[in-house]
Amino acid sequence: MKSPIRIAVTGATGQICYNLLYRIAAGDMLGKDQPVILQLHDITEAQSAFDGIVMELYDCAFPLLTEVVTTDNPEVAFENADIALLVGARPRGENMERKDLLAANSPIFISQGKALNTSAKRNVKVLVVGNPANTNAYITLKNAPDIDPANFSAMLRLDHNRALSQVALKLQMPVSDVKRIIVWGNHSSTQFPDLSHALVGNDKVTSLITDTAWVNNHFIPVVQKRGAAIIEARHGKSSAASAANAIINHMQDWIFGTRENDWVSMGVPSNGCYGIPSGVIYSFPVTCREGQYTIVENLVTSQSDQARMQQSYQELIAEQEAIKHLLT
Ligand code: NAD
Ligand code: LMR
Repeated sequence: MKSPIRIAVTGATGQICYNLLYRIAAGDMLGKDQPVILQLHDITEAQSAFDGIVMELYDCAFPLLTEVVTTDNPEVAFENADIALLVGARPRGENMERKDLLAANSPIFISQGKALNTSAKRNVKVLVVGNPANTNAYITLKNAPDIDPANFSAMLRLDHNRALSQVALKLQMPVSDVKRIIVWGNHSSTQFPDLSHALVGNDKVTSLITDTAWVNNHFIPVVQKRGAAIIEARHGKSSAASAANAIINHMQDWIFGTRENDWVSMGVPSNGCYGIPSGVIYSFPVTCREGQYTIVENLVTSQSDQARMQQSYQELIAEQEAIKHLLT
């Protein structure tokens, strides 16, 4: 029997986590032979909501679920954590832009960065989901100076999965046949879903979809604005089942590796490639092996694609500027 892996999850009484915790405990993220300890965090006011969640976790009789901890103290939640899923934040409501959330959410990620630095394992893998996810990941990383920046990521996997599905639907092909999609940049409407390197089997997607109007007027805006469309369709609630699924996909690929001849999109600290200055948490195509990701570099990008990539970078820089005074 393997020893259990400690998974800290924040915002654990929220709607994403109601779709996430049971799948983690069932082995969907780390495998059917990997015991897990769930270390669940939420704010003090939300503690009573843990009662039902924990009862249901035990009522599932998951063979892999070794222990469940609930707390309102981030240092307790992150203690010796191998994995930290930072989901807790105020969700974006209708007519709210992500940057409106910056002021409300920055203090959460400052204190959680500090708590990770104090109590998590030094090789903890951190995924920030709470919006605005890229800048929240940046804030967390800056407040955890003793943990390698390469261990921090922001979730763009939901955008990546949305892009895969749009192409599969258009071509009437199984989604698993679509590879090498990229979503560049920020998890916001400035992100750039890019088909120029995508493949279906050995065929370039751009040779199968020659209708550039579909790409520019349907594919790109649908993926960019899908989060807002879901909020409208769900009467103010943001995506939860698909977000939970994307968390599982992101962590699974990071830990166990990406598919042959494929890559995924992850928000990670830039190393300066593609004209995106170092440090900013930006979504790039990455391959993963043995628990490490590598940015796929030297892909040829057109001038118009570079302009879109820069636009998302500029938004991230503006977000960083807005919280700069909080990081000193
Ligand atoms: P939710 O409102 O159901 O849950 C949010 C949780 O965060 C609640 O349990 C709440 O108590 C907790 N919380 C609030 N303030 C907190 C604080 N100060 N410290 C710690 N926890 C706090 O929201 P949800 O639908 O589960 O979404 C969670 C976050 O994920 C939101 O920010 C949402 O915008 C974001 N999201 C991101 C993606 C992505 O692809 N990156 C996709 C969907 C949703
Ligand atoms: C999503 O992409 O579904 C969410 O990030 C939307 C949001 O703003 O909560």
